[in-house]
Formats: sequence, structure tokens, C-alpha cells
Amino acid sequence: MIQETLVTTLNEAGQVHIAPMGIHVTDNALIILPFKPSTTLTNILASGVAVINYSDDVRIFAGCLTGRRDWAVKNAVQINGKVLVNTLAHSEVELVRIEEDAVRPKLICQVIHQANHAPFKGFNRAQYAVLEAAILLSRIEWLPWEKVDSELAYLRIGLEKTASAVELEAWHWIMTAIEARKTKVTNG
Ligand SMILES: Cc1cc2nc3c(=O)[nH]c(=O)nc-3n(C[C@H](O)[C@H](O)[C@H](O)COP(=O)(O)O)c2cc1C
Repeated sequence: MIQETLVTTLNEAGQVHIAPMGIHVTDNALIILPFKPSTTLTNILASGVAVINYSDDVRIFAGCLTGRRDWAVKNAVQINGKVLVNTLAHSEVELVRIEEDAVRPKLICQVIHQANHAPFKGFNRAQYAVLEAAILLSRIEWLPWEKVDSELAYLRIGLEKTASAVELEAWHWIMTAIEARKTKVTNG
């Protein structure tokens, strides 16, 4: 199973870095798979630890991909790391093994502490739509425009039926970034 999470890491100067990452969940490990080059990868290799945040605030996912990375954090409990304030739960993990790969290494981690902070309130289609749109934005350079446009048209249906102001704001940030990219490509 792959869970869409927000991974927080610290660089050697102690500055926090937040990145949306799809974490592979197995019976006894959480596997982080960063595409090279990656600040998350550099930070985990240097520190040996990370925090995996399970947040339903999709503005953080959309924000990280559109230059809005300044989200409130607090200290982790068992590791030198930071936890997002706006998260339902989090896991603090230690790196136990690396499966090297030229494109996308596997960072096999074990959970050393986890905590719940707020109840899960159920699934929401607008949150799903924002996550999918954020993934489209993160791959925009490789995808044909027809695919991007048709997927966004479909995702917009669930968004418009079920969004709160939070999802609408996150969607707006992503659409603005996609439009800017389109203009750049069109104008050379
Ligand atoms: C829902 C979602 C899941 C993502 N999963 C991954 C992932 O598993 N690995 C990855 O390298 N980038 C993933 N990305 C893209 C990264 O978040 C983004 O490119 C990031 O800024 C790059 O990593 P860095 O910040 O560590 O340099 C994902 C983006 C979204 C929106």
C-alpha cells in the first residue's frame, strides 16, 4: 500500500524541509522513495531520521509544490526532527537500510515513535482531487497536455461537489502553477 504523506527532514544547519512523498507501507517497514536529486534524500542520508506526517490539510501538499513551504512545525518526541502542527498523526522513523538505485533509491525505515493528534474524519473527494492535481503538477514536464487537461476536467467534478475553502485554495494554487507552466511552454 502507498500512503500519500508529508515527510519532514532537517538539514545539517537544522532547517526543516517538507516534501509530499508516497510512502510504501509493509508489515514491518515504511519505505521512502525519493527521485534523485532530492533534498529529502540528502537530509535523511545525513541525519538517519525523518518524520512522516499524515495530514488531511491538502494546502500543505499543494503549497510545497507551489513555493509555499513555510508550515508550522513543532519538535518531534524521540528524534531530532520536526512534526507538522497541522497533522492528524505522525511517525518518527530511523533509516535502517538503503536499496541503492540511480533514479529512485529505497530508504527502508523503522518506526520508533508514533502519535495521533486529531481524529480521521472520513474520505473527501476534493482532497483526493487536489492530491491527484498536485501529482500532475509534479510530473508536468513529462506529461502530454491533453492528458493533463482531461484528468483535471474529471477531478474538477469531485472538487466542485465536495470541497471546503481549504481544498478550493489548494486547487487554485495548483491551477495557477499549471497555467504559468503552459504560458511558459507556449511562449517558448
Ligand atoms: C502526493 C504526492 C506524492 C509524491 N510522492 C513522491 C515520491 O514518492 N518521491 C518523490 O521523489 N517525489 C514525490 N512527489 C514529488 C515531490 O514532493 C516533489 O517533487 C519534491 O519537492 C521533491 O523532493 P525534495 O523536496 O526532497 O527535493 C510527490 C508529490 C505529491 C504531490
